[in-house]
Amino acid sequence: MAGVDSDGELRFTVERLGEVDSTNACALRGAATLAHGTVLLADRQTTGRGRAGRCWHSPPGNLYMTVLLKGLPPAVQRWGPGWLTHCMAIAVSRVLEGYALEPKIKWPNDVLVEGQKIAGVLAEGRWQGGQSPVVALGLGVNLNMSVEDAACVDVPVCVLAHALGQPVDRDVFAEAVLAAFSSAVMELERLGPQAMRREMAERLWSLDETVEVRVPTGVVRGCVRGINDRGALVLTDGDGHTHSVFAGDVAC
Ligand code: BTN
Repeated sequence: MAGVDSDGELRFTVERLGEVDSTNACALRGAATLAHGTVLLADRQTTGRGRAGRCWHSPPGNLYMTVLLKGLPPAVQRWGPGWLTHCMAIAVSRVLEGYALEPKIKWPNDVLVEGQKIAGVLAEGRWQGGQSPVVALGLGVNLNMSVEDAACVDVPVCVLAHALGQPVDRDVFAEAVLAAFSSAVMELERLGPQAMRREMAERLWSLDETVEVRVPTGVVRGCVRGINDRGALVLTDGDGHTHSVFAGDVAC
């Protein structure tokens, strides 16, 4: 059954779909009737959504899934919604490490292999006055797309099947990510953010390097120091001032 076990562990019910517009859109549209913990897994998307209004190219072969959360896990309520995205990025990274790859997390939501994007996370929420928020936590992973489809994406991409030299079973990969996501959320709950901050920092793309981050109010330029308890990116600028960025895009 979908939902949360008595031990607090997230449980999922996977619904497999053919072609949809966007699994995030489907989850948000169906939120009134779908159970907490429902996972929508689609073969392809016609209008896959990325961050900041970008498109997510969604041909057959890749993983397109959304976890519907009707209410936030307690640790996420406590430490901030950014941790949902981070726990998913950590989960994908753990699974990729099982294939002997060395993924990096480009804060806040990209997973890269050898500097090329292999996965992206998009959390979209509805906060309905006084009620529990509804969150569609979407994940796209480049598992099996063709070289031609990969060339259509506007950033360099890594395709897992190409990296491994063999096709990847989407359903097996999805199950592994869901188990790893549940574990990551439980660890945040049991251990607090320190351990998860360390996990993020170990994998953080451009740690100790100077980057520019586009934020709603402009650009922050600084050296990446890690993640704070609330999941914000911590940078120090040339004057030694510390900046905590909660929303933004790290320039490539
Ligand atoms: C990004 O890196 O910009 C985030 C991409 C998220 C893509 C996934 S695919 C499944 C889910 N449905 C969507 O429309 N988007 C997310």
